[in-house]
Amino acid sequence: MSAAADDLWQVRRMRPRDVEAVVAIERESYSHPWSERIFRDCLRVGYWAWVIDRTGRSVAGYALASIAVGEAHLLNLCVAEHARGSGAAARLLETVIAQASAERAGELLLEVRPSNHAARRLYARYGFETRGRRPNYYPDRHGREDALLLSKVILI
Ligand SMILES: CC(C)(COP(=O)(O)OP(=O)(O)OC[C@H]1O[C@@H](n2cnc3c(N)ncnc32)[C@H](O)[C@@H]1OP(=O)(O)O)[C@@H](O)C(=O)NCCC(=O)NCCS
Repeated sequence: MSAAADDLWQVRRMRPRDVEAVVAIERESYSHPWSERIFRDCLRVGYWAWVIDRTGRSVAGYALASIAVGEAHLLNLCVAEHARGSGAAARLLETVIAQASAERAGELLLEVRPSNHAARRLYARYGFETRGRRPNYYPDRHGREDALLLSKVILI
């Protein structure tokens, strides 16, 4: 698999009318998806939110992040199953990193399931390092699963 640049991808700000498509991707992608209300609340409070699509086509993925006291936090990054393996997540992650830099965040943090090898490889490729472990962070089919806390120093 290669995430070589696919120049047809375009990243743009998420709008309220994107939420329905975003929620459909969320539901196909996670065992414990965010509700529509969470996405609408994120937009309402002004969290960073982007979608990615190909010109004239429907939303293929999205990223949400926030910033507080100089630390940016990636809250959700997800690509529709049919669009994976074409560099969409990489494009979204680059957008988040660029925004964190523009807003002078010292670092970008995120949580990831230890079992999520695709995501972990993506983050390693972009220079994220493991900072710690959050016990029982995620719900899973058998109870709870720890999260790995990753961080990347942001160059301003
Ligand atoms: C993780 C996810 C966002 C990757 O999206 P994607 O668009 O397929 O990723 P890209 O095509 O941009 O790939 C970028 C890099 O990610 C890694 N990667 C992506 N999919 C992978 C897979 N199935 N196996 C291993 N590595 C993978 C690779 O390092 C890849 O770079 P490479 O192709 O040069 O090796 C996607 O699988 C997804 O949405 N999963 C469900 C939601 C989720 O788990 N989000 C992360 C929460 S922390």
